[in-house]
Amino acid sequence: MDLSQSRKVLVTHQLPGDRIHDLSAHCEMNVWMDPGLLSAASLREELAGCVGLVCLLTDRVDADLIAAMPDLEFVSSMSVGVDHIDVRALTERGIPLGHTPGVLVDTTADTAFALMLAAARRVVEADHFIRVGNWTKENAWAPDFFTGKDVSGATLGIVGLGEIGQAMARRAAGFGMEVLAWNRSTREVAGVTSVSLDELLQRSDFVTVHVALNDETRGLLDAQRIAMMKAGAVLVNTARGGIVDEEALAAALSSGQLSAAAVDVFASEPVSLNNPLLALPNVVVAPHIGSATTQTRAKMADIAASNAIAALNGEAMPHCVNPEVYRN
Ligand code: DGY
Repeated sequence: MDLSQSRKVLVTHQLPGDRIHDLSAHCEMNVWMDPGLLSAASLREELAGCVGLVCLLTDRVDADLIAAMPDLEFVSSMSVGVDHIDVRALTERGIPLGHTPGVLVDTTADTAFALMLAAARRVVEADHFIRVGNWTKENAWAPDFFTGKDVSGATLGIVGLGEIGQAMARRAAGFGMEVLAWNRSTREVAGVTSVSLDELLQRSDFVTVHVALNDETRGLLDAQRIAMMKAGAVLVNTARGGIVDEEALAAALSSGQLSAAAVDVFASEPVSLNNPLLALPNVVVAPHIGSATTQTRAKMADIAASNAIAALNGEAMPHCVNPEVYRN
């Protein structure tokens, strides 16, 4: 019997791409086939006895779960963000964590830019206006009919100048925007002016968020910082929900301090229908679709499978969040 077949790996969803098929040659692969997401209880049950986990950003891998899995040797997430995983708990056990950076940069920036344009030009509101039968002869056109906000020539503030933030800056250049950016450690990028976060918020017509969610960025755009934003500005968040205070954002949009927002990510997903942002017509919402193209999702799955295969072969993962585990 091939020994590799007795090493069990749980894959929490059927994944796209080709590389996932190679994984079955390296382990006994248990793919969760039920419709919908794996519950926390099922994750715990299915992971028992497994050496590896290939998961999604919806699978919460906390310290408690990790402690309950003595056989666990690696985790590979099909996501770039790893805020659903207790990285410290894995590192303390010497367990490598794989993620999928790089391949979703342009796709996510495309989404953020599309949402920014949609919010600025009230695209979703206008679509709804027609569908509910409000576009009538009496209401056919007027000088102030569905007026929005110019993106071309405006100032864009990028919160987090990593790869996706820089991809936003490239897109903004094509729209003749002035680009400001704030990053925790200063980064020199051509065409981008580095400023403090406060200055960025005070000067930008559009603010787009591209930092990872961690202890330092949780609640980064709180009520106080949102209040600093320029009158009539637009906020776009395709990073993570916990970075922006949703109640404060909704209040700023209701009062007219901000003219619009575009939100692809929420503090709790799927978002509750009671979330105040959903009651506002000047908010464009999407269900966490930043990287959602067929090609990009296949590339992400291929990287997640490659990280898992490397771990099974006793090699360093090509994209490891905590490479310090290999140093000992
Ligand atoms: C990620 O991979 O972290 C993204 O949020 C998926 O779109």
